[in-house]
Amino acid sequence: MPNTCPVETPALSPNGCPISGRAAAFTPFNGPYQVDPGEALKWAREEEPVFFSPEIGYWVVTRYEDVKSVFRDNILFSPSIALEKITPAGPEAQAILQKYGFAMQRTMVNEDEPHHMERRRLLLDDFLPENLQKHESAMRTLTRRYMDRFIDRGHADLVEDIFSEIPLTIALHFLGVPEKGAEQLRGFAVAHTLNTWGRPTQEEQLEISENVGRFWQTANRVLDDMIANPNGEGWMYETVRQHFKHPDAVPESYLRSMMMAILAAAHETTSNATANAFWTLLNNRESWEELCETPSLIPSAVEECLRVAGSIVAWRRIATDDTTVGGVDIPKGGKLLIVQASANKDNRHWENADDFDIYRDNASEHMTFGYGAHQCMGKNIGRMEMRIFLEEFTRRLPHMRLVKGQVFENLPNVSFRGPSKLLVEWDPALNPEKTDPSVLDRSLSFKIGAPVREGILRRVVVRDVIDDSTGVKRFVLADPKGRKLPKFSAGAHIDLVVGDYRRKYSLCGDASDTKTFEIAILRENNGRGGSKFFHDNVAPGDVVHIAGPRNHFRLDANAPQYILIAGGIGITPILAMADRLKASGKPYHIHFCGKSRDRLPLLDRVQDRHGQSLSLHITAEGTRLDLDRALSKVGGNDRVYACGPDRLLDELESLSANWPEGTLKYELFSSANGALDSSVEHAFEVELRDSGMTVSVAADQTLYDALRASGVDMPMDCGEGLCGTCETRVIDGEIDHRDRVLSAKERAQGDRLMTCCSRARNGKLVLAL
Ligand code: HEM
Ligand code: FES
Repeated sequence: MPNTCPVETPALSPNGCPISGRAAAFTPFNGPYQVDPGEALKWAREEEPVFFSPEIGYWVVTRYEDVKSVFRDNILFSPSIALEKITPAGPEAQAILQKYGFAMQRTMVNEDEPHHMERRRLLLDDFLPENLQKHESAMRTLTRRYMDRFIDRGHADLVEDIFSEIPLTIALHFLGVPEKGAEQLRGFAVAHTLNTWGRPTQEEQLEISENVGRFWQTANRVLDDMIANPNGEGWMYETVRQHFKHPDAVPESYLRSMMMAILAAAHETTSNATANAFWTLLNNRESWEELCETPSLIPSAVEECLRVAGSIVAWRRIATDDTTVGGVDIPKGGKLLIVQASANKDNRHWENADDFDIYRDNASEHMTFGYGAHQCMGKNIGRMEMRIFLEEFTRRLPHMRLVKGQVFENLPNVSFRGPSKLLVEWDPALNPEKTDPSVLDRSLSFKIGAPVREGILRRVVVRDVIDDSTGVKRFVLADPKGRKLPKFSAGAHIDLVVGDYRRKYSLCGDASDTKTFEIAILRENNGRGGSKFFHDNVAPGDVVHIAGPRNHFRLDANAPQYILIAGGIGITPILAMADRLKASGKPYHIHFCGKSRDRLPLLDRVQDRHGQSLSLHITAEGTRLDLDRALSKVGGNDRVYACGPDRLLDELESLSANWPEGTLKYELFSSANGALDSSVEHAFEVELRDSGMTVSVAADQTLYDALRASGVDMPMDCGEGLCGTCETRVIDGEIDHRDRVLSAKERAQGDRLMTCCSRARNGKLVLAL
């Protein structure tokens, strides 16, 4: 993005640019940001993605890619201010804190390198998936016991009655802190939130400071007991033991600050996230009912809830040098408010970002747990608790409803978000366990960690199958209950999953038809078998599964003109793009080519809709496509989109060698990446520089699979080197690139690779993970 100043107002931001009216009016402490921070910053994502807010003195970062890149670089963007008071305490409030000896310093989340990683490595073990399993049964027993208390009552305030208490008890148990005085701790945590992230008045500050001071002293008393007898069980005991072994890496000041910070980090985040999730699901009744019917969807529903209604909506970093974020100059010392809730609603990253969709198979790419070296260590504890809550409630209280007319009341602050009350009601006579006591015995167990993408599938019914007489069949798919399907953008695809076959197909139907999806499948007799299987076995009335829609072939809306090139069945995404360009009045031209007219699928539709902007190139009719001629006028910011056979795309790639970066975008049908042959491949090691781990990749294992097995959450989509989703930065080592995403120039730079298919050429790779 060019570095341009926004619309002028008299005030200047620290980089010398005038502050726009909307930036000047932005406040995170009340108004729209408190109602829905992602929605409140929609204007910024579109018009001014990084802006300076004079109200708080922070640069506000709103787009997904920018938020992620700030999280990712914890050297240039130091986390040292993460727990700083966003509203500085007045002298009286400071005096109160001093009276209690309050001395909050660096913990984990606000520590710089190299200390942070050294500490994180020493204290990571208890958070590893294999060490978390043991907490599951305690969580479940507790959840059941709490539900028993109100299940026959017919109404509850879920925040008060269960969600604020269980995560606290679990947190105390995990940390090894005695449960005595838990009630008081809850009140203290509220004070800590307001003290750190709120805008209390001078008067409120005094009371808050008293509570924060008491919190500090209570936390320290617990810690003193642990130091005196460090053999107990729990993460804080382990931390104390590490302090004795490595006093430089885990100093006493860290113990004292962490004791207080972790009490808040471990329970409030999860209480709020759970309450937000129930609020969201009960307000989206269809999704709630679907979860009750199909509880295997719970892990993906949890991620979608964390995306649209996370409990941490913004986090903070400070620039350690002059830099730019999203094209905006940020001077050294500039403070950044990185708004995860806004990134989580960014249409540049998500299909239909505003829609709530429990089938969204990449929802775990949300920023709610942060990203990179400081990513939440307790994320899998939070996930596990939320899953158990949902599982027990959908089974025992599927008929529960939100009490009408209640408003979402949040503590006014920039980062923590969750309702102070969540009133629900139900008819106890209809509790399923009254008629079927076996409901109580059932439970599911989900694998710890982010949900496995392959398992998140939407059931659809095949409404129609139309033979196109070009070797292509068109399949029209709809929701079995006639509900709306997600909207899709031009270039998007779905995965069709039937039997053992899973294949990607571009959506080529009418984007304004919200009830059906249409895909066109060419029967490939010499392919891998999927298309033949679908042609022969999928018939109207069948129920099949799909994943998506997702889009790795996005249309840039801002080019002056577009050239669209399709070879054969490659017309499917191109048709969707042409439809969209026509609807938005943009100049475009389609070149549609094939060996003969009967090898041009969807031709009638293409001619009907786009006859004015269409050139047909048919080899049998002597009108073969001359790419040189077709592309002779490409220039400036024009965009060329292409989909077709490899031959066509290879030719295009070499023709475009001197075009400006990003002019040509193409989509491949498939890659040559098949199953790994361990007799040909070699095993190798990767060092994860940020996490301080070394991972071994076996000869028959992909790098992606090895990383996942070591607890690294990584996004992945195609798994074949086609889409770029799994791109990872490489710090050192020789790469054996096997993807079709990177250009020759990018490969030569050797600083990134696709983990789903690429490997080490020789020796070891060092990754920025
Ligand atoms: C860090 C969110 C639950 C322990 C963080 C960060 C966020 C976050 C945003 C900062 C990430 C960054 O700077 O990149 C959440 C949410 C939770 C949750 C939304 C629940 C849904 C937990 C739990 C625990 C925990 C249950 C512990 C039992 C930590 C720790 C860090 C952290 C130790 C510091 C990691 C580091 O700096 O290396 N969390 N958290 N969190 N969280 Fe969580
Ligand atoms: Fe698509 Fe790796 S997941 S390139």
